[in-house]
Amino acid sequence: MQNKQNTIYTIIGHKGFGKTTLTEILTLMNNKPAIMVDPCGQFISEHKRRKIFHSFGEFRAWIYNRKNLNIFYEGKLELVVREPNDEEFDEICLISRKIGKHTLVVDEADLYAPPSITKNKPFYKLVNMGRHSEVDIITTSRRPARISRDITSQTDVVFFARVLEPNDKDYIKKYIGEQHIKTAETLKKYSFLMIDQEREPHLIKVSKKSAELIS
Ligand SMILES: Nc1ncnc2c1ncn2[C@@H]1O[C@H](COP(=O)(O)OP(=O)(O)O)[C@@H](O)[C@H]1O
Ligand SMILES: [Mg+2]
Repeated sequence: MQNKQNTIYTIIGHKGFGKTTLTEILTLMNNKPAIMVDPCGQFISEHKRRKIFHSFGEFRAWIYNRKNLNIFYEGKLELVVREPNDEEFDEICLISRKIGKHTLVVDEADLYAPPSITKNKPFYKLVNMGRHSEVDIITTSRRPARISRDITSQTDVVFFARVLEPNDKDYIKKYIGEQHIKTAETLKKYSFLMIDQEREPHLIKVSKKSAELIS
């Protein structure tokens, strides 16, 4: 992966298993400014680096100001955009690709990137060409089957919360092998099975403020 200039992280798990919390920790650890697409109003904590936009229009006006853009990069800000609709999401992806060098976070990504996503969609292009603009991507989804294969096939690092459904187990089997199903189905809440860039499995325990590598 030495030549790869961006990393794509995918977090998969049921509601309430700590995906959004892990996303926030990963975003901080990734140590780049971030644009955070927040369809369900989940990124609620407020801190010095975070700026919350309650409408897409407000975000667009802010980011198109050159002075603000500099502040975004210098201060490594996290710009949370609440509840963008499909067209607004497309525009966020266009902006993201244009400005480059940051992390794009998409919570509940299946709302915007279902398996039926087409190749002309800005998000598709970002996932497949994001390395040119050095945009890292973090997505969360409740079920692997609900998210576009174009994302999962480009994913570098995946985190699974406890899986229960046969389809999800099947997905893990195909992705990393049958031997990991047992780990995935016995995971405690807020623990994740992480598959890294080298396809190595690890156990990750997440607290509200940090993530710890257990194995
Ligand atoms: N590691 C953790 N330790 C303790 N509580 C957590 C942890 N992760 C999440 N929570 C709490 O569990 C609830 C669900 O977490 P959230 O991250 O929103 O899950 P998801 O995005 O998977 O639905 C929230 O109230 C959150 O504060
Ligand atoms: Mg969530």
